[in-house]
Amino acid sequence: MRIVVLGSGGREHALVRALAESESKPTVWALPGNPGIFHYAKPTGISDMQDVESLTTFCQEQEIDLVVIGPEAPLAAGVADALRLEGITVFGPSQAAARLESSKWYAKRFMQRYGIPTAQWTSFTEDEADEACEYVASCSLPIVIKADGLAAGKGVIIASTVEEATAAIDRMFSGAFGSAGKRVIIEEFLCGEEASVFAICDGTDYVLLAPAQDHKRLYDGDRGPNTGGMGAYAPAPLINDQLRQQIESAIIKPTLQGMISENAPFVGCLYVGLMIVDNAPYVVEYNARFGDPETQSVLEVFRGDFARLLYSAARGRLDRSALRTAAEGWSCTVVLASKGYPGSYQTGFLITGIEEAQRFARVYHAGTALDSQGRLITAGGRVLNVTSHADSLAAAIDHCYRAIECIHFENMYYRSDIGARALRKHHLLEGGS
Ligand code: AMP
Ligand code: GLY
Repeated sequence: MRIVVLGSGGREHALVRALAESESKPTVWALPGNPGIFHYAKPTGISDMQDVESLTTFCQEQEIDLVVIGPEAPLAAGVADALRLEGITVFGPSQAAARLESSKWYAKRFMQRYGIPTAQWTSFTEDEADEACEYVASCSLPIVIKADGLAAGKGVIIASTVEEATAAIDRMFSGAFGSAGKRVIIEEFLCGEEASVFAICDGTDYVLLAPAQDHKRLYDGDRGPNTGGMGAYAPAPLINDQLRQQIESAIIKPTLQGMISENAPFVGCLYVGLMIVDNAPYVVEYNARFGDPETQSVLEVFRGDFARLLYSAARGRLDRSALRTAAEGWSCTVVLASKGYPGSYQTGFLITGIEEAQRFARVYHAGTALDSQGRLITAGGRVLNVTSHADSLAAAIDHCYRAIECIHFENMYYRSDIGARALRKHHLLEGGS
């Protein structure tokens, strides 16, 4: 099999690794890729993920069997549709199906239409700024303010005072998130524990990968601003069998059926971001792609033929036998970020110690580059993802932090409590489950 992967983050590094090491032994190309990805994949010579013309020519010349789209932007821009029109097999939803992620307003109305549990909500356009501010003044606190469109995980504000809520609304309407903030969703705050569930979908059928838990806030103890994700672990013990069944019957199945009714069957990875409140699941967000950094952990515990799984889903005939076990053992992922992220940060710092770190864990590249002398330097907000595997969560966490001790770059920042709450809450002991 011959596969092209679009993207350049830690998620794509993990996807490329899992595809390249699949039992079906595919050849993998990547674009734009990153220095870590190119250990497993060949470059295509194309740098723009939305350059559909070059991509089509490449796929035809190289007889590519499958294109896997990692990030949301090319999905929202309709790259999957354009490639399919040329007869290319794509793992990733159409532009219409990707609206589950690209418009929170669409997603909320969709959930309302199909009776899928989610937080109470209302929405306002930029012409209704005064009404929006009046509305939040009448709400109980905290209250959640979301930009409608794509904002790289930064368009959600949890306001604990009316002043904060009003300031968030003002900021969104004054263009802080570009056109993504032309409409805001104001949502009831759900108090519970979060989990991310990924369904590999062929339009009608699906299989679930291991549930994961992300750590969205910047600081230890789940404090500070929301980020794209600072660390994850899998499987999340929070999702027991009973909850999983509830998630499938109340959320995954009606979502796939709903998308068929909307003439936008979902082919790709459906990411359901959940809040578990009093043992019941609510959708806090849909994503139309694999999560980052959850994927790094989810693929670490996956056993089966990942390339065959994605290919069969993309062809519309999911091959369940390609997944042997969703979760074997435990995995932890810690994001090493540039100080200042998710705000502004400096780049260009030398990275050292990856080889030593690899004695304890995998090191995925998220925001790295090579300088003119071929040395590895920082080139993004999330720089590296350290992902471990062990037969207990405690050991997986320990391996991650041991690996991190080996790595150095200036202004490196990471959370030191990834997975710690799960260990405490679920009393997970060494070797236990
Ligand atoms: P989203 O991009 O919609 O997933 O929001 C980012 C993060 O904000 C989520 O992962 C939650 O931690 C938090 N969040 C979003 N919506 C809510 C809500 N209704 N109640 C509580 N927390 C929320
Ligand atoms: N980790 C959250 C996301 O990928 O959106």
